[in-house]
Amino acid sequence: MQTVLVTGGTGFIGSHTVISLHESGYEVVIVDNLINSKKEVLNRLERITGKRFKFYNIDCCDRDSLKTVFEQNKIDSVIHFAGLKAVGESVQMPLEYYSNNINSMITVLSLMREYNVNNLVFSSSATVYGQSEDVPFTEESPLGVCTNPYGWTKWMLEQIIKDCANAIPSLKVVLLRYFNPVGAHESGLIGEDPKGIPNNLFPYISKVAAGTLEKLTIHGDDYDTPDGTCLRDYIHVCDLAQGHVKALQYIDNNYAGVNIFNLGTGKGTSVKEAVAAFEKACGHEIPHVIGPRRAGDLPVCYASTAKAEQLLGFKASRDINDMCSSCWNWQVNNPDGLQD
Ligand code: WQD
Repeated sequence: MQTVLVTGGTGFIGSHTVISLHESGYEVVIVDNLINSKKEVLNRLERITGKRFKFYNIDCCDRDSLKTVFEQNKIDSVIHFAGLKAVGESVQMPLEYYSNNINSMITVLSLMREYNVNNLVFSSSATVYGQSEDVPFTEESPLGVCTNPYGWTKWMLEQIIKDCANAIPSLKVVLLRYFNPVGAHESGLIGEDPKGIPNNLFPYISKVAAGTLEKLTIHGDDYDTPDGTCLRDYIHVCDLAQGHVKALQYIDNNYAGVNIFNLGTGKGTSVKEAVAAFEKACGHEIPHVIGPRRAGDLPVCYASTAKAEQLLGFKASRDINDMCSSCWNWQVNNPDGLQD
């Protein structure tokens, strides 16, 4: 049985991926410093899977501590989620974002080299495509100019990983470029649990639907799109999790080097369409107003999914209605998120 080290494994995407890995027969070891997640997630994962996953409360920048994980477990593969990921926060705190996100990856890569661990799946983002309006984005689309330090850390980490793969012939890497992960596990036991006022659309809509927030402000309806609001490629987090299992299987069956895949649905959904779908899911109106455009927003962003379908055998199966209903189920069952 392969052992997978999941850094950031109590986070939103990490925790959902742990479930998919377990269901696919992998042994999972979780490392997380709990800066942006709760230890309660481990209890929820146990309720969902019946398994108490081995957990280390460790900061991936702390090499001595992280080394003990490699000492105590025979790690076959690493999926690296750990990192700070709030776009707006990254503009306010660039030093923390560059220090944490770059150093954590470098520490992981350094220990992988020391312990001859050669399989890496890295959590990247469509944000590396920058401000291009040449959609859909394919994996060959040029890397763009990022609009925030968070995006630049993903851009830089892709380059660091590529350089490592050139220097270490045995290293096999898949870079997964996520589009917009949303939704929650069908149990309603885990889901997106951001601190404070959400920046992203789905968690914000969810709080408005629950009455926790008064209304949604739609950031602009004068874009050159069918209904004037921005289009995004929302992908269900459980589909995204399954994409990571496919990535590990691809690494097992293929050659060394770096392989890049978009994880999206290939479909653009507008803000207004997302609001309408959420109203259908929660059964009542979502109060909303139209506000000014948000700096840095692309009018249209969605994935070409051809490469992931052909080479990974990955195709998202859940639609915007599944995303909204699962998000609402999580919200209703956890009105104040998780508490430790
Ligand atoms: C989606 C649309 C907003 C909130 C971000 C990161 C990206 C990735 C996914 C990590 C946009 C509109 C939003 C609101 C709104 N994260 N919106 N009112 O900006 O596409 O991508 O999250 O990898 O890196 O940049 O997602 O959910 O913030 O916005 O109208 O209160 O919803 O303008 O058009 P985004 P988002």
